[in-house]
Amino acid sequence: MEVKNKKTCYVTTPIYYSSGNVHIGNSYTTIACDVFARYYRFKGYDTFYLTGMDEHGLKIEEAAKKAGKDPQDFVNQIAKETKLLWKELNISNDDFIQTSELRHTKVVQQIFEQLLQNGDIYLGYYEGDYCVSCEAFFTKTQVGEEGICPDCGKPTRKVKEESYFLRLKKYSARLLKHIADNPDFIQPESRRNEVVSFVEQGLEDLCVSRTSFKWGIPVLSNPKHVVYVWIDALCNYITALGYGTNNPALFEKYWLKGDTVAHVVGKDILRFHAIFWPIILMALNIPLNFKLYVHGWVLMKEGKMSKSVGNIVFPRDVTSRYGLDSLRYYLVREMPLGNDCLFSYDRFVERYNTDLANDLGNLVSRTIAMINKYFKGYVIKPEQILNPISVELSKFASETIEKYQDYFANFRFQNGLIEVWNLINRANKYIDETSPWVLAKDETKKEELNEVMYHLYESLRLIAMMISPVIPGTAETILSNLNVSYANRAWNKLVFGVTTREKVQEKIEVLFKRLDVLEEQKYHQNKTAKAENKVNAKAEITITDFEKVDIRVGEILEANKMEGSDKLLIFKIKIEDSVRQIISGIAQFYQPQELVGKRVLVVANLKPVTIRGHLSEGMILTASSSKDSLEIIQVMKENSFAKIS
Ligand code: MSP
Repeated sequence: MEVKNKKTCYVTTPIYYSSGNVHIGNSYTTIACDVFARYYRFKGYDTFYLTGMDEHGLKIEEAAKKAGKDPQDFVNQIAKETKLLWKELNISNDDFIQTSELRHTKVVQQIFEQLLQNGDIYLGYYEGDYCVSCEAFFTKTQVGEEGICPDCGKPTRKVKEESYFLRLKKYSARLLKHIADNPDFIQPESRRNEVVSFVEQGLEDLCVSRTSFKWGIPVLSNPKHVVYVWIDALCNYITALGYGTNNPALFEKYWLKGDTVAHVVGKDILRFHAIFWPIILMALNIPLNFKLYVHGWVLMKEGKMSKSVGNIVFPRDVTSRYGLDSLRYYLVREMPLGNDCLFSYDRFVERYNTDLANDLGNLVSRTIAMINKYFKGYVIKPEQILNPISVELSKFASETIEKYQDYFANFRFQNGLIEVWNLINRANKYIDETSPWVLAKDETKKEELNEVMYHLYESLRLIAMMISPVIPGTAETILSNLNVSYANRAWNKLVFGVTTREKVQEKIEVLFKRLDVLEEQKYHQNKTAKAENKVNAKAEITITDFEKVDIRVGEILEANKMEGSDKLLIFKIKIEDSVRQIISGIAQFYQPQELVGKRVLVVANLKPVTIRGHLSEGMILTASSSKDSLEIIQVMKENSFAKIS
């Protein structure tokens, strides 16, 4: 039997859908988990950091088809690209699991059979509105008359199929008890409360198989079914550790006997992790010894990042211009646990200049330059402390370390970084308060000057150690500029005053070069304009495509504002002998009365739709010359009514 001599930490990211779309939002999760893993390694824990890809399901099957690829080749390619990206972002994961790997699929099949045999899974029928994009069923009330997915706005499909179900109700009481007995099981508290009230409302059994697509893990005893993606996906957290195989050593070490087990997820997948996953574990008789940290989203000023809005920021967009550590720092510094944060280049540049170039960068360059200038690069531990401000600084540093440890151990990186930056600013202020350049002019103040240099050196050593999980590259540069030995970088040396004598580097590079705010704004405005042009440019069509559009001249008989909407007008339009109702989003550009009597172009063969309960049977053609204008296209000749197509 292995003797355990170190505490352990197991941390996981959600596994990402193989859509090839890793932006700064999901990179946040991976970076934050990396910070957690690096922090626990630093603390001396035997740490295992897992990430990977969620590769099954209809959406991926369809994406592969569209790309003209076999699903396995398709997901392998995306996994390869994602691994490369994580390497570039300096992610220190110990494993990378793909759910199409045999080590995973085999165990999921066994798990499914075991749940069936125990009666936790049963066969039934599922009927409902299914959204392919979100891989989820929705209720009638959620999708409304039009069958629109409430999450992504795309049309859902009606699906009725034989399906296996996981019994959830059976475990509700046990789950609620676990949540009550372990107040830090789901963090932050607001998310925990959300889960409790959801469970208390009553749980419906969960559909856990599909027969309508093939790209999934077949159910062993009934292979026309594939295991539905969530049961498949969630189990990655234990299959990667060898659960259910003849080599479960990692599972035993990191899970069964583990000290810290942390799943980190975004708020959109809270229920899957806080309800379904614990229930699966209970049904398998596996202890629920994990904590769930739930973070919000990285939002853009327009809201979520989306392809159609064209506002997706990819990590390389940022790192290619500003380097890696500024991105890692920004995301971790800006995101509070539980809530959303905003990404904008203006804010990014501001943080870069203020926190990194000014506060941290200046402290490093001033300290090292002064130690070189006044003591030829040497710092020596003073025998006695003469200045009370020095005592204050070392006390401040010790208090910061305590708070930092508490925050970082509990995934509160934003709070932890605020404390570290308070110390950075305290140390910068200490330089102004002690005015070393004045002390240097007086030979009798040599000892006092050495004391100041030593206190700055020690503060900086501690600061670099504390930020090392977040910006490892920068921390390493600072520590080697200070020539800190590996022994003095260890966890037990995270205390003020361990250095006895050291010689710093003579010449150092600037860590973060100050950015010119206006230049950066111009650069991003140009880039956005180019991207907008790209988004607006539509794919080429043939004349046959165009001929499908039936454009007619119509006369506006009536125009009225739609109640409760600032944008929509309701028109009655005469086209030849019939009158149609058409809704158009031009209320911001026209007063309804001024349009009555106008002859306009109408797309007459557009499929009718209901907008806010009103039927719309066509579309009035408009044109825009700029982003903020929209004009109706009018027909000049009084009696022209012929079909144009
Ligand atoms: N495959 C599932 C997870 C299965 S875990 C057993 C999934 N994948 S995902 O690729 O859509 O999302 C992965 C993670 O990225 C989620 O935690 C999600 O919250 C997070 N994010 C996606 N967009 C995000 C932002 N804009 N900001 C922060 N996190 C974001 O869900």
